[in-house]
Amino acid sequence: MPLVTTTEMFKKAYEGGYAIGAFNVNNMEIVQGITEACREEKAPVILQVSKGARAYANHTYLVKLVEAAVAECPEIPIALHLDHGPDFETCKSCIDGGFTSVMIDASSMSFEENIAVTKKVVEYAHDHGVVVEAELGTLAGIEDDVKVEAHAASYTRPEEVEEFVSKTGCDSLAIAIGTSHGAYKFTAAQCTRNEQGILVPPPLRFDVLEEVSKRLPGFPIVLHGSSSVPQNYVKMINENGGKMPDAVGIPEEELRHAAQLSVCKINIDSDLRLAMTGTIRAFFNEHPDKFDPREYLKPARANIKELVRHKLVNVLGCAGKA
Ligand code: G3H
Ligand code: 13P
Ligand code: ZN
Repeated sequence: MPLVTTTEMFKKAYEGGYAIGAFNVNNMEIVQGITEACREEKAPVILQVSKGARAYANHTYLVKLVEAAVAECPEIPIALHLDHGPDFETCKSCIDGGFTSVMIDASSMSFEENIAVTKKVVEYAHDHGVVVEAELGTLAGIEDDVKVEAHAASYTRPEEVEEFVSKTGCDSLAIAIGTSHGAYKFTAAQCTRNEQGILVPPPLRFDVLEEVSKRLPGFPIVLHGSSSVPQNYVKMINENGGKMPDAVGIPEEELRHAAQLSVCKINIDSDLRLAMTGTIRAFFNEHPDKFDPREYLKPARANIKELVRHKLVNVLGCAGKA
């Protein structure tokens, strides 16, 4: 099947109590690792491209890689989504350039400005058969070249969501309930430590999610910053020359719970980066004489695939839903 929008995916996910995985893609091996897992697990998927990915790999290369995945996996629905579109022009460029979904992230603007720019993107997108994700509330962490310190992050205000959605006409809404971008989501001071000495982050604000869902029945909610920072890959990185102390993510059980509620899209990027980097670091340590990129990219791609499979089956609940 050709690239799809997220409309049907989200409807089924909402009704079925699961979420669609939205994975960031930057090169061929990442696209292949994700889509091979989704094909084998019969899972619908969203491949998303950030401003940084477009700057790194070039819009056309990324669209063609995704088109190749669509050709290789004709039996699963695949959507191509712009992640954190910073302005109308970037969204327009992706809408004109083959994407089926865009995010306009005006969450750092005032409520009124956020509504105005989101509405403008929605009008253009809907005229072209493309759907729009918007955001209310601010996540902590790093996305593209924007860094939001924890103290500057703010939870979504449930009392604002109905007005925002009805005035903008957006198709899904990213909210802030305590997730955060990157591999260092929380400072040690924000966490407690378990018996193994691993940092345990503060729990997500399910009360905010439930209040939002009550006000927007049937409406798809999106969670950004939802990597769980697998400790086996942090360890692999640290044992092979890396230095990532106190990297900590969102517990997978919390994400599984969110997926059973109104959360229909869960964004995961950092976990795939950790798997790729850990695998390549370990390969170089074990094989200092090797220099063929195919030899170290092959196990990296295989580990991305297994990590995505794990997310589909155990976290998102979307395996078998294609
Ligand atoms: O939220 C941001 C995504 O993880 C994309 O990251 O801007 O480094 O491509 P990036
Ligand atoms: P992570 O950094 O937690 O993977 O979040 C990714 C994300 O939200 C992309 O938009
Ligand atoms: Zn994000």
